[in-house]
Amino acid sequence: MSEQQPVKIIGSVNDFAAFPAAVNVDNNPFFIVEAPRKDDEPQRYNLISAICPHAGGMVRPHLNELICPLHYWCFDLATGESTNIPGEQLECAPLEIRDGQFTLKV
Ligand code: FES
Repeated sequence: MSEQQPVKIIGSVNDFAAFPAAVNVDNNPFFIVEAPRKDDEPQRYNLISAICPHAGGMVRPHLNELICPLHYWCFDLATGESTNIPGEQLECAPLEIRDGQFTLKV
């Protein structure tokens, strides 16, 4: 018998009209973003932390990046990988859609 992995419900897909979408998870700020995909694949989503790994600034969306206003570290909007500081990364996890809800494996 297979057990289903527990998940945390992030919110109803219908509540988000555009991405990146700001959400709070356990009182911490995140963005739901559109994940990279090939043309023939369905859209996937990632949950990316809004807290900069450098010194805790709050990143903000700007064009195709999330930018920290404190010292201008920049991060890819789809993956959270830094675009100007090699090896740095915002916390990022894939979301699944179950029964119309964004869910995160826990
Ligand atoms: S705290 Fe974000 S770049 Fe320094």
